[in-house]
Amino acid sequence: MAKDFCVLGIESSCDETGVALVRVSGASLPVLQAHALYSQIEMHQAYGGVVPELASRDHIRRVLPLTQEVLHEAGQALQEVDVVAFTRGPGLAGALLVGAGVACALGASLGKPVLGVHHLEGHLLSPFLSADAPEFPFVALLVSGGHTQLMRVDGVGRYQILGETIDDAAGEAFDKSAKLLGLGYPGGPALSKLAEIGNPAAFKLPRPLLHSDNLDFSFAGLKTAVMVQAKKLAVAQNCAVEALPKAVLADLAASTQAAIVEVLVKKSLVALRTTGLQRLVVAGGVGANRSLRDQLNRVCAQRGVRVHYPELHLCTDNGAMIAMAAAMRLQSGIETASEVYAFDVKPRWPLDAL
Ligand code: KG4
Ligand code: ZN
Repeated sequence: MAKDFCVLGIESSCDETGVALVRVSGASLPVLQAHALYSQIEMHQAYGGVVPELASRDHIRRVLPLTQEVLHEAGQALQEVDVVAFTRGPGLAGALLVGAGVACALGASLGKPVLGVHHLEGHLLSPFLSADAPEFPFVALLVSGGHTQLMRVDGVGRYQILGETIDDAAGEAFDKSAKLLGLGYPGGPALSKLAEIGNPAAFKLPRPLLHSDNLDFSFAGLKTAVMVQAKKLAVAQNCAVEALPKAVLADLAASTQAAIVEVLVKKSLVALRTTGLQRLVVAGGVGANRSLRDQLNRVCAQRGVRVHYPELHLCTDNGAMIAMAAAMRLQSGIETASEVYAFDVKPRWPLDAL
């Protein structure tokens, strides 16, 4: 690969179509030239969650117009793209196939190589797009809708999983609890907004595996506890859970958020202690959570640990992180883009299999 090159990245693993252009110049950190995003949230809201078939069809509608938008914003021609990167997995098979198909068709028609990227590596490296980029090595707390992992990261592609969820992910705990409280989809942002006016100590909810001697998580029991508590209150007030007074729902939301955040913060501290590292990187959609950021900032400042986050708008799925992960893999020489356009996708793909 030349020292200077330009990567077009396409993300289509779930309910967001993202496209971005990243430029690599020598050994400097790759720079984002432009990115565009289309969120399908409104479309799926009517169904209370992501409908995979509708997601795939919508990616088809959005991906090329978004590509044109990105090229226009960057003032670049399609022919100037050197590599086309796409999310190869994990994610919804049909949705992934749209991004992979379009990326390979673009690559084949331009005579440029393509590269399939791991979605979680995209999240993991997304803080390198921020003004306050981290340095290796660090502990990473990856908290998305489908994954919750603590990792030791020594460099691009050098990921050691220290612990992960044995059932629901942190994002799933937010989403499922929010649904129970009638807050709709996606639940994380809605639940955390309502939590702002609630009392986090109002209800005693479980902190699963908080004191276990490993770095694994378990959030499935939490949503059950939220449901039991909410139903108890609803029976006492003779109403449906969604019809509970806003202040009560806010207390439930705040207590739920407090339980999730406490476990994430405590386990991150244990990971820092056991690895002896002084740097923490938070990535994935739940990394946008204000309470998580506030508490991590506080405890890390007390311990002299630097914390890095992706920019708020790059916490959830986007094309910039896919272009960035491809750029960093190519730049570090651990990967070469391919001119074989017989693509596949990996709906299930553990990060440590990279
Ligand atoms: O990383 P992401 O966009 O998708 C996956 O790769 O899964 O993460 C989406 C998850 C959802 O569960 C969503 O509810 C959660 O991130 N999320 C939040 C917040 N913003 C997004 N959870 C808590 N607080 C937020 N502010
Ligand atoms: Zn994601």
